[in-house]
Amino acid sequence: MRILLAPMEGLLDHTLRDVLTRVGGVDLCVSEFIRVTDQLLPNRVFTRIVPELRQGGRTAAGTPVRAQLLGSDPACLADNAARLAALGPAGIDLNFGCPAPTVNRHRGGAVLLDEPQLVHAIVAAVRRAVPASMPVSAKMRLGHRDETLMLDNAHAIASAGASELVVHGRTKLHGYRPPAYWDRIARIREAVAIPVVANGEVWTADDALRCLAESGCDALMLGRGIVADPGLAWAVRAALGGPAAEGAAVPGWEVLPPLLLHFWQRTATHVAPRHRSGRLKQWLNLLRRRFPQAQALFDALRTVNDPQQIDVLLSAPDFLRGLDHQAQLVPLVLDGDVVAVHGAAEAALG
Ligand SMILES: Cc1cc2nc3c(=O)[nH]c(=O)nc-3n(C[C@H](O)[C@H](O)[C@H](O)COP(=O)(O)O)c2cc1C
Repeated sequence: MRILLAPMEGLLDHTLRDVLTRVGGVDLCVSEFIRVTDQLLPNRVFTRIVPELRQGGRTAAGTPVRAQLLGSDPACLADNAARLAALGPAGIDLNFGCPAPTVNRHRGGAVLLDEPQLVHAIVAAVRRAVPASMPVSAKMRLGHRDETLMLDNAHAIASAGASELVVHGRTKLHGYRPPAYWDRIARIREAVAIPVVANGEVWTADDALRCLAESGCDALMLGRGIVADPGLAWAVRAALGGPAAEGAAVPGWEVLPPLLLHFWQRTATHVAPRHRSGRLKQWLNLLRRRFPQAQALFDALRTVNDPQQIDVLLSAPDFLRGLDHQAQLVPLVLDGDVVAVHGAAEAALG
């Protein structure tokens, strides 16, 4: 069983990839999208978004990172893919799922699912442009407004030479509202000969077991769920009776304090001081779904934005001793879309 770490632009960047792959249980990461319009991007754009390219296409923990491109012009995507390939990622992934209005207005992401022929042309052009040894994969939603073209798109991707297809079991119109339709992923898996990876709404090991059963896939991509619970990949492996089940405990809160500090310190290298606290709170906002200690820390930091004050707080010996606070309803909004809602009921369920 393979577990992939999802691309999440604005949430799961190289810093969080570093942290989450240190916790482990993940076989492969896909980077957040690199947007291609009509230009050949300079190498520094690729290495800024995917700095792992400077270390053999792997995170510090050694987990391979596939770089994701987003765009609609096959020739320009192919040129950029060739340049990117020379930097040595663990493959190139193509985005056919992004619902962001700014991206869709420019005919990128999920709206491409209205045009399976264009999807085919993009995958084929990129496949031709990069060395045969380099995997070219794709990630799609079930469709733009509905799922009528889902099999056409999956066929388009597979017949253009993609080595793997990740399916997020929702249309663009579904946004991020539960549920994810894992049974539709099964229909796609049955229709194409390439491996299909199931994605969407896996927050617990139980969800993972149901998703695997309903989709019939043997690979999962974890997004918000593993950001909320960095031990989730190990929990899934344990639930499946894999190596983690044999003695090794599933990592819980106890592994997180040093990683939170590491994450915080790493943000100093590439995030403007005024945005640093926001990045930390964004992660804590998901972590508090699972950990009361993260809720306590979130509460303690709610009104604190000064990096120096946060340095002091995070370095205090007992900052991690959390109280089991009742959570309030807090939507996590990105690009005008509610991507997660954290509520008191969910907190009570853990
Ligand atoms: C904040 C955010 C940013 C995302 N950015 C990307 C992206 O750059 N590329 C992509 O293919 N999918 C992106 N996605 C979609 C996720 O990869 C994933 O398909 C989706 O979150 C469903 O999985 P989950 O329920 O496990 O989170 C993003 C999702 C979120 C919430």
